[in-house]
Amino acid sequence: MRNLIDILDFSTEEIDGLIAVANDIIDNPEKYRDVCHGKILGTLFFEPSTRTRLSFTSAMMSLGGQVLGFDNAASSSTAKGETVQDTIRMVSAYSDIIAMRHPKEGAPIAASRVATVPIINAGDGGHYHPTQTLTDLITIKRKSGRFDNLTVGICGDLKYGRTVHSLIAAMSRYENVKFVLIAPDELVLPDYVKEEFLKTSEYTETVDLEGAIPSLDILYMTRIQAERFADRDEYERLKDSYILDASKLKCAKSTLSILHPLPRVNEIAVDVDDDPRAHYFEQAALGRYIRMALILKLLDTKGVDDRRTDGKEDPTLECRNPHCLTLTERGIKKLFKEGKCIYCDQTAVKI
Ligand code: CP
Repeated sequence: MRNLIDILDFSTEEIDGLIAVANDIIDNPEKYRDVCHGKILGTLFFEPSTRTRLSFTSAMMSLGGQVLGFDNAASSSTAKGETVQDTIRMVSAYSDIIAMRHPKEGAPIAASRVATVPIINAGDGGHYHPTQTLTDLITIKRKSGRFDNLTVGICGDLKYGRTVHSLIAAMSRYENVKFVLIAPDELVLPDYVKEEFLKTSEYTETVDLEGAIPSLDILYMTRIQAERFADRDEYERLKDSYILDASKLKCAKSTLSILHPLPRVNEIAVDVDDDPRAHYFEQAALGRYIRMALILKLLDTKGVDDRRTDGKEDPTLECRNPHCLTLTERGIKKLFKEGKCIYCDQTAVKI
């Protein structure tokens, strides 16, 4: 049984394979119409979604399978106090594969430790969002034709933007990729992401979007993540830090790709939508096909078990990340590896 918790669960060769299958699905949809007949996808969305949930639903239906689940924690037994791990034990009995989104970091790892079917992380708090990254990667491949030798600007909320963390993890594996990290001081990339993924990649940090644009091959805009802020006033102050509009693109390369995981709020003006370099709506549409390829791959890995069994209990360590599932989930084993919480990757505190 394979899971997709973190984009690094897949090798670059496996990602190339998924993109090849997704492209074949686009060209030959009838070949895939019934290949998941009799299979059920569980979509457990403890947090709002349009693209991820509906593209997973569309993906399974397009493969001839069926879908069950919930789009709101309040309509599930979570509202009665059920833990994530108990919910997953149950839905494992009702489905063949599960895509889950949860506001707490590490929830998909906790799920995969008790699930009896493959778990797909459809976004865990401000941590990771690997299926968005697959969507980003197929778009980059189709638009730029390569992953190597790219200057990738990532702009906006780099602190809480889970799509950003997974994209950096994925792109850092390719040759000569340079990152330009554009964020206000309050929303710079967390240290754990830099430590994990940027040890060997070239990167610069700046607050200046317009100054960065001329050098970029990819501009990945992101929303300031209102739902992750403890202080509403801080969100109000930062929410319009960056607004990309047509005038700012005058000095951009003609080959630039403008991407955004969506939803957007104000960070891309609508006058950019007609620019031939704006690919964000096509990017979201490609999500359906790459998720079809992903479902096929994960349903076809019998005999393999990549469930995480690493990490040890350590009474001298405590995870103090307020967004980590381990702070709220009853009965969960608190596990650490090399001084870090295995669920959220944050450095643990010695007690
Ligand atoms: N990109 C993304 O995750 O969008 P949704 O929140 O609409 O699923």
